[in-house]
Amino acid sequence: MAVSRQELEAALQELTKALEGFASQAGVTPDQLEAFRVQYVGRSGKVTERLKSLKDLSMDDKRELGPKLQQLKGLFDSAIGAKQRALEAEQDAKTLSDSGIDLTLPGFPSPRGRVHPLTQVLDEMGRILGLMGFSWAEGPFAETDYHNFTALNIPEHHPARDMHDTFYLKEFPLVLRTHTSPVQIRTMEARKPPLRIICPGRVFRHEAVDATHSAVFHQVEGLAVDESIGFADLKGTLSDFMKRLLGSDTKIRFRPSYFPFTEPSTEVDVTCFFCKQKGCPACKHTGWIELLGAGVVNPNVLRAVGYDPEKWSGFAFGIGVERIAMLRLGVRDIRLFYENDLRFLEQFDENLV
Ligand code: PHE
Repeated sequence: MAVSRQELEAALQELTKALEGFASQAGVTPDQLEAFRVQYVGRSGKVTERLKSLKDLSMDDKRELGPKLQQLKGLFDSAIGAKQRALEAEQDAKTLSDSGIDLTLPGFPSPRGRVHPLTQVLDEMGRILGLMGFSWAEGPFAETDYHNFTALNIPEHHPARDMHDTFYLKEFPLVLRTHTSPVQIRTMEARKPPLRIICPGRVFRHEAVDATHSAVFHQVEGLAVDESIGFADLKGTLSDFMKRLLGSDTKIRFRPSYFPFTEPSTEVDVTCFFCKQKGCPACKHTGWIELLGAGVVNPNVLRAVGYDPEKWSGFAFGIGVERIAMLRLGVRDIRLFYENDLRFLEQFDENLV
């Protein structure tokens, strides 16, 4: 059915009015909205039909009325869309208020974890020694009697075994390692010299637990083997390490000691980093803090792993991690490190060392 230009112009006006009426109407139900959509812009809606009828007009009329109709169609679409969104928002608000959820309540903060203070101190020691050319090595907690003692020049029935308060496992000859020194043996068995390693980790001793003793604690072992390594290298390495760990003004001193796996053996003290040697409870007013055991690797140990002691030599040291952590963090009771009491742990920020 052909349509005239006049008819279309009239329809345009009429449709515009219908749209204005619709847009200003306050509450529409979803059904009303859908009915309106079908009536005007549905497949045979009034606007749709008018658009189709454009084809019957002359070129000039088309050019004039076409865009107007298109624009009107756009206005219908956006008015319908706006009502649609308003309806959805209304529905959402209703769902929310029906559910009883109060979006204005503050949220629950999620607890933030942090690295355990002991681990932080241990990592820091590993980081410094790593910079000094030592690489990380590990070994098992359940260790053979051979690696924990015999290969370290502590034969059976040797009195030095008594120093260690060993946990013997039912699966003899396994023991819980009493120090990290067996990792020296394992590493040398597996690798050819030269080498420079650290072995950080947990060790176990059958000790009465008190404020300064724990049956489980941590050590960092160091071992360097090369041609013509001697006590001077040990001294230089430890002095550098302690300066980096405890402060550049730290000094070290050696006291003679005994370990079966080193000869000579020494116990190393550092200047008290609390009082700078003025005297305080931490250093028991001596100005010095006893920190680690060390020495030149005993040739018997090199022999046990098949290294030629005529060609190779080395130094080794072992440091208790808890002791350093307690001193640095001002912790007076070693047991606090293992109780996992958040009131304790939360006092130590990340990056505290
Ligand atoms: N393993 C010794 C201990 O636990 C420490 C140590 C390591 C001493 C290396 C000398 C050389 O007491």
